[in-house]
Amino acid sequence: MTKKDLLSIYDLSATEVKTILNKAFELKSKKRRLDIFKGRTLGLLLEKPSTRTMVSFAVAMVQLGGTPILLDVEKMQRSRGESIHDTSLVLSHYLDGLMVRAFKHTDVEEFANYSTIPVINGLTDHEHPCQILADIMTIMELHKVKNIEVLKKIKIVYIGDSNNISNSLLAISAVLGLDLTIISPKEYPIKKEVLDKALEYTSSTGAEIKITSDINAAKNADVIYTDVWTSMGFEAEEKKRKKLFASYQVNSELLKKASSKCVVLHCLPAIRGEEIATDVMDKYETSIFTEAGNRLHAQKAILLHFLK
Ligand code: CP
Ligand code: NVA
Repeated sequence: MTKKDLLSIYDLSATEVKTILNKAFELKSKKRRLDIFKGRTLGLLLEKPSTRTMVSFAVAMVQLGGTPILLDVEKMQRSRGESIHDTSLVLSHYLDGLMVRAFKHTDVEEFANYSTIPVINGLTDHEHPCQILADIMTIMELHKVKNIEVLKKIKIVYIGDSNNISNSLLAISAVLGLDLTIISPKEYPIKKEVLDKALEYTSSTGAEIKITSDINAAKNADVIYTDVWTSMGFEAEEKKRKKLFASYQVNSELLKKASSKCVVLHCLPAIRGEEIATDVMDKYETSIFTEAGNRLHAQKAILLHFLK
């Protein structure tokens, strides 16, 4: 049987997304441990910091009966120049699955290309598919949406940087046929190839995709989602970004435009006072931390799907 990787949301069909979400809800409601992965191992290879992704994958693997192994790149021969090709082939002999968080998306693709075990993208500069699966689960949970047909009626607005989070959100909206508006300053637009790929899906899935720099497009939003203005790896642009993104903050003024039942999401970590006002972060603490908690349930469903 050929192995399957999760490098991008586009690696999943709409049916597979639904299967993973259903499993995540089932696991969340039952809260029981399984020993399905007894004797199996998942490597967690992280080139950059992580709290949620690292810990939720580790705990997910333990709760499924398996063993997570934290691979600190600095302590591996990778840091001395061993190639991805060789590292990937070697790890394939020891592990049953590999989660990689890397700066470059092409590096994760290279890992997947040479490995004989499933490779899961734990965030790159291009996508963060595991986060977005937990986010869709959270939107369904908070809005008490039972199926994707009803989810299609929820207006999701992402505001801020066009980055890995907005790319994966755009991808899942395209695949499932959701109503998504992305608001970002014109100096930091969605990349053309990212948008073009999503638009390939809209006619068949009915996705309503709107890309704009106008914050008034948040009108009647049922979900407002934001992320940091400066992602990991882009620190050199921090000063410039702070200026350009200043009017794209999620604050009480912006929320006046949204629907009365709007929930606020943030993938975290957050910088209070930058992309999200402190009072908004406090007010929507329940939704934002439910989202973080759902990473665990989504991770388990992802592992069950890919490490079959
Ligand atoms: N949201 C998220 O992926 O958080 P970490 O960087 O802490 O893993
Ligand atoms: N866009 C952020 C997400 C962190 C989970 C980053 O890449 O740093």
